[in-house]
Amino acid sequence: MTTPALGIQDITFATAHHRLDLDLLAQHLGIDPAKFSVGIGQEAMSLPAEDEDVVTMGAAAAARILADNDVEGLRTLIFATESGIDQSKAAGVHVAALLGLPAQIRVLETKQACYSGAGALQLALGVVARHPEEKVLVIASDVARYDLDSPGEPTQGAAAVAFLVQADPALLEVEPASGVHTADVPDFWRPNHRVTALVEGKFSISAYMDALEGAWEDYRAHGGAAFEEIDAFCYHQPFTMMAVKAHQRLRRHVGEPLPKAEVVEELAPTVGYNRVVGNSYTASVFLALLALLDGDADLTGRRIGIFSYGSGAVSEFFSVRVLPGYRAHLHRAEHAAQLAAREPVDVTRYRELHPGTAVSAAEQQANPRVTAGPYRFVGIEGGVRRYEATGA
Ligand code: CAA
Repeated sequence: MTTPALGIQDITFATAHHRLDLDLLAQHLGIDPAKFSVGIGQEAMSLPAEDEDVVTMGAAAAARILADNDVEGLRTLIFATESGIDQSKAAGVHVAALLGLPAQIRVLETKQACYSGAGALQLALGVVARHPEEKVLVIASDVARYDLDSPGEPTQGAAAVAFLVQADPALLEVEPASGVHTADVPDFWRPNHRVTALVEGKFSISAYMDALEGAWEDYRAHGGAAFEEIDAFCYHQPFTMMAVKAHQRLRRHVGEPLPKAEVVEELAPTVGYNRVVGNSYTASVFLALLALLDGDADLTGRRIGIFSYGSGAVSEFFSVRVLPGYRAHLHRAEHAAQLAAREPVDVTRYRELHPGTAVSAAEQQANPRVTAGPYRFVGIEGGVRRYEATGA
C-alpha cells in the first residue's frame, strides 16, 4: 500500500477591522517615514476593533475553509496563538461553537511564540498519518502588541490563518523532512500580567538568524532538499526586512551570497501581505506563503522552503510542494477585498485602541459594535467571554 501525500487542502487569512498607516506613526514620532517603509519594510498594521480578538479573526478565516471544502472526517481543531484569551480554555472551543462544529471534535491550543502555528501543522500531519480518513483544522491567530513609544511599536499587527490538513490534499504536499532547533534565549516574551511583549530587539534578530542556521542544518541532516533544489523561501516576518536579513544569512551559510538588493527582489513575492498587516506572530509565516501562492507566478510543482521562528526560541525549517491545479483553491480576491476594506485610523484613535500594558481584570464588559467581520466579541459577563455571529 502506498502512503498518500499529506498536506494542506486549503488555506486563507482574515485580519482586523482597522489599519494604521506607518507614515502617520513616523510623523507622530518625529522620525523619517523611510525608517519604517525601507528600514524595517513595513507600510501599515492591522488593529482589532474593540469587538475583535484572536477568536473572531480565527473564526472568520476558518469559516471560509469550511464553506469551500468537504469537512467530513474533521475531528481535530488546533488553535495556535501567543495572544491567547484564557489561561485554561482553548480559544478554539469558542471557534468550534461559532462555526457550529459537531461535538465529536478534539480541540486544543498550542503555544510557543510565533512558532506554534507551524508546530500545529506538524501535529496535524501526525494525526492524519495515523488516521488518513481524518482532517484537522488549524487556526493560527494573533494580535501583536508592544508598548506605545517603544522600538517594537511599528511592528505590531493582527491576523489569523486557517488551513485544513488532510491526506491527498489539493494545494500543498508537506514533505516529510523537517529541521528543528530549540535554544533557551530571553529575546522576546510576554509575562502573564502583560498585554504587550517584552523584547530585546537587536538580540531577537540575531537569535532568529542563529536559529535559522540550526534548523537548516537539521533539515539537511534529516534528508531535506539542497539549497539549490528549493525554488522559493518563506520566512516568519515580524517585519519584512527580517526575512531579507535571514535569507542573506542563509545564502552566506550555504556559500551562495547575494547583495541585499537582489535578496530583496528574490523575497518580494512573499512580503506583500505582511508589509501591510504587520506582525501576526503565529500567522505571519503563513501570510508569507499566501502572498507567494496568491501572486502571478505559476508555482505548479515548485518546492517552497518555510522557516518558522518562535522567540524563546523554537524554530523549524520544512518544505512543501505546490500541487497541480492549486490556483483553483486560492482566495486571492477575498484577501485583497479584506485588506482594502480596513478602516484607516489616525494616531489619536490608534492610541485610544491600544490596550496599554496591563491585562484587564474586567469581569463585566460590553463592547461597542464595530467590526464588519462575520463574528464579534460581544463582551464579558460575570467573567465569561461572549461571542456571536454578526450575519455579515
Ligand atoms: N531610512 C532608511 N532606513 C532607515 C532609516 C531611514 N531614515 N532609519 C533607520 N533605518 C534602518 C536602520 O539602518 C536599520 O536597518 P538595519 O537593520 O539594516 O541596520 C532599520 O532601519 C531599523 O532601524 P533601527 O535598528 O534603528 O530600529 P530600532 O532600534 O528602532 O528597532 C527593531 C528595530 C529591533 C526591529 C524593533 O522594531 C523591535 O524591537 N521589534 C520587535 C522585535 C522583533 O520584531 N524582532 C524580530 C526577531 S524576533 C521574532 O521574529 C519573533 C517575533 O515575531 C517578535
